Amino acid sequence: MQKSQQAFLGQDDGSAAMALLAWYDRERRLLPWRAPPGAKQDPYKVWLSEIMLQQTTVKAVTPRYETFLCRWPDVGALARAELGEVLAAWAGLGYYARARNLHACARAVADEHGGAFPETEDGLRKLPGIGAYTAAAIAAIAFGKRTTPVDGNIERVVARLFALTALLPAAKPEIKALAESLTPAERAGDFAQGLMDLGATICTPRSPACGFCPLGAECRARAEGLAEVLPYRAAKNARPTRRGVAFVAVRTDGAVLVRERPLKGLLGGMLETPSSPWEEVAPRDIEDHAPVVATWNKLSGSVEHTFTHFHLRLLVYRADVGQGAAALRAAQPERCRWLKRDELAGAALPSLMQKVIAHALDTRAGRKPVAKAKPVGRATARASA
Ligand code: ADE
Repeated sequence: MQKSQQAFLGQDDGSAAMALLAWYDRERRLLPWRAPPGAKQDPYKVWLSEIMLQQTTVKAVTPRYETFLCRWPDVGALARAELGEVLAAWAGLGYYARARNLHACARAVADEHGGAFPETEDGLRKLPGIGAYTAAAIAAIAFGKRTTPVDGNIERVVARLFALTALLPAAKPEIKALAESLTPAERAGDFAQGLMDLGATICTPRSPACGFCPLGAECRARAEGLAEVLPYRAAKNARPTRRGVAFVAVRTDGAVLVRERPLKGLLGGMLETPSSPWEEVAPRDIEDHAPVVATWNKLSGSVEHTFTHFHLRLLVYRADVGQGAAALRAAQPERCRWLKRDELAGAALPSLMQKVIAHALDTRAGRKPVAKAKPVGRATARASA
């Protein structure tokens, strides 16, 4: 820790926490998982929202959180759901391991903890899908423990407050220690959420609104003219590109052939159209991977999608399949089933596969995709396992 930070810490008299809490009481965002001021927080709501908010924005999470809460209002209800239903309700949110763990965690809380979440970070961390950050967030927000979850917003606020110039991600432990040093014994959950709100609304990555900041008087980065540039980050390695082929078989009634991915691994348990493996080079012989349903026609363009660790480019083939009994018998490859057109929206199809199907349905062989699908070369939603 730099000397100047130690000196600052030594002098910390709780004024930063007091200023932040006073600001939070006035300006807090009204989010559906937050109890009104002074009311008891529901640990189920806190847990559900924190899992959804991992790697995903408040804007994207809010409607989905409300749908989940309506459908599964408590941990017991979620524990009784089938995994497939939960995966389908999660479709499009990305990072699908979260949905599998969400379901496993609900079952563990219902079966092994009598339906009550453990109150300590250690107890919480033993549950599926709950890592250090989420355990700290739940312990602080739901149970009032004095602990400090540090997400990207909080990292930025703290790095600026202390004008920390060390590079992320190596600086994470130092930032965590500095954040903990500021955390008050009372209202640690509100303090954490105050830092989150500050990072989301005022201490933003670009053009922070320092003039409105409740910590402006104490902020070293502001004093040193560094607020806009901190925190510093080490350069990231470029993502590799993987390539593959996706096969979209369309029946005359519009149904699309899908299969379930293995439970373990990327997009585990979600649905996909039959596809080749995703590798550095796309396969040359599509016969090795194409289901034997009919004649496959290559569509123009490709579908692109960015996962956390790689970029994916898929060529798409389409086959139009008759609906006669013989055709259907021939066209039901192993592990596959037909999804009717009106079932597509509620199915456990990740964004990538929604794009693949949209591309195939909007494009005829040899023609450019119509403008509304625009799947080629587009900036894409984040997604991962
Ligand atoms: N991001 C992660 N947890 C959050 C919370 N409780 N409120 C707002 N944003 C968050």
